[in-house]
Amino acid sequence: GRCVVAVDGPSGSGKSTVSRRLATSVGARYLDTGAMYRAITWAVLRSGVDLTDAEAVAKVAGEVDLRLGTDPAGYGVTADGVSVEAEIRGPEVTAAVSAVAAVPAVRALLVARQREMIANAGRIVVEGRDIGAVVAPDADLKVYLTASAAARATRRSAEDASDVAATAADLARRDRLDSTRKADPLAQAPDAVELDTTELGIDEVVARLRELLAD
Ligand code: CDP
Repeated sequence: GRCVVAVDGPSGSGKSTVSRRLATSVGARYLDTGAMYRAITWAVLRSGVDLTDAEAVAKVAGEVDLRLGTDPAGYGVTADGVSVEAEIRGPEVTAAVSAVAAVPAVRALLVARQREMIANAGRIVVEGRDIGAVVAPDADLKVYLTASAAARATRRSAEDASDVAATAADLARRDRLDSTRKADPLAQAPDAVELDTTELGIDEVVARLRELLAD
């Protein structure tokens, strides 16, 4: 039957790895909403519009043909027919994504797309920042993953071979932008189960979520 799992939390909390593995292990679809904000950001950067011009940013977001799948083994992100899977993980997109995600019209557009994808999936693990609070408030299970700032920076720099200190600074900057924006600030749903993953391995977190799902 229908089952929606919302996994929220900041960067480096283990969201992506945990969500993908959980989806695979329970035979569910998987939606990476961060990839959607990143792909829109790629299109905005390509267009050359001023990032602080909310109206122009929203216009680009509304015009780009964004596509991604929900297979946890690979979901292929394309923007206007171009594969942007590598580009959306690059430093330019990472530096600009919080500003683009702060534009209310961009959020409205993507939240609507996400709800549509969730409705079509039936069983799905959805990861992001606002899933339990905004996108899928009626989710069957809501989890909020946290980890110490040091653990998050260490994990993220191990993933992309970047400098730990620079990564820590970038995460702190995005946390601040994501949590202070006016439209839907990094919102923890009141009914989310909070899990501190600082001392937990991926398998332990996935096992814990499977237990919560079984309850
Ligand atoms: O894991 P990491 O934070 O590096 O990246 P992500 O999950 O791909 O999200 C990238 C950025 O997109 C975040 O810093 C937020 O600014 C934004 N985002 C959002 O506003 N709402 C979401 N549901 C997902 C991402």
